[in-house]
Amino acid sequence: MRHDPLSRGGSEYVNLFLRAGRRVRISEPRNNFPLDGARRYLFIAGGIGITAILPMMRAVADRAAADATLVYVGRTEDAMPFVAEIRRTFADRALVIATERDGRPDLADLARRLPEDTSVYCCGPVGMLDACSAHFPADRLHLERFRRAERSFAPDSPFEVVCARSGDRVAVASGETMLDALNRSGHPMASGCREGLCAACDVVVLEGTPEHRDDIGAPAGHMYPCVSRSLSARLVVDL
Ligand code: FES
Repeated sequence: MRHDPLSRGGSEYVNLFLRAGRRVRISEPRNNFPLDGARRYLFIAGGIGITAILPMMRAVADRAAADATLVYVGRTEDAMPFVAEIRRTFADRALVIATERDGRPDLADLARRLPEDTSVYCCGPVGMLDACSAHFPADRLHLERFRRAERSFAPDSPFEVVCARSGDRVAVASGETMLDALNRSGHPMASGCREGLCAACDVVVLEGTPEHRDDIGAPAGHMYPCVSRSLSARLVVDL
């Protein structure tokens, strides 16, 4: 794993503290980026985004009934993991683009030539994801974000959360997240990214109107309190 000094702690922890033989407690991975049942796939990976895309490319290659093309983009090949394996395994189904050598991929052209029955999966830096959103049809595009998209919201207002099971009432101040307010009030909540990207803090909403600020689309009746707030003065949640 690459040591990213700007990480939120994950790569720092792995690089500075993890050593062979050290025991760590882990939970099962959560998949918010599942493969659908399309006939064809276009996978687009930017940099380390290949770690999410490569297993999907392998999975489709194992399915005789579907086919896939991979576009793998990085600055230089030296800095792009798995290039040799990708060329060896996927040959002309994979296009490796080193932008210093080849320039940026022509997403508009890829979108123009996209067959009707193709699902597009993209994982990479924010600029690449935004460019994919601009070119590919939304109903066939699946994005995996490592960082939140830049968006603006109305200023945070305070609201109240009622925990239906215990009857507890928790005040969420304008300067704190609902997740922090619940934790501080004796309602320990699971969390992961704290950016509305992973669904680890999922909570069921029974009454009230959440203001969804996540980037993965909370299912109806759910919200992610690490980022999402309330449009109503009160939310009743299943806690
Ligand atoms: S902690 Fe990841 S979505 Fe809330």
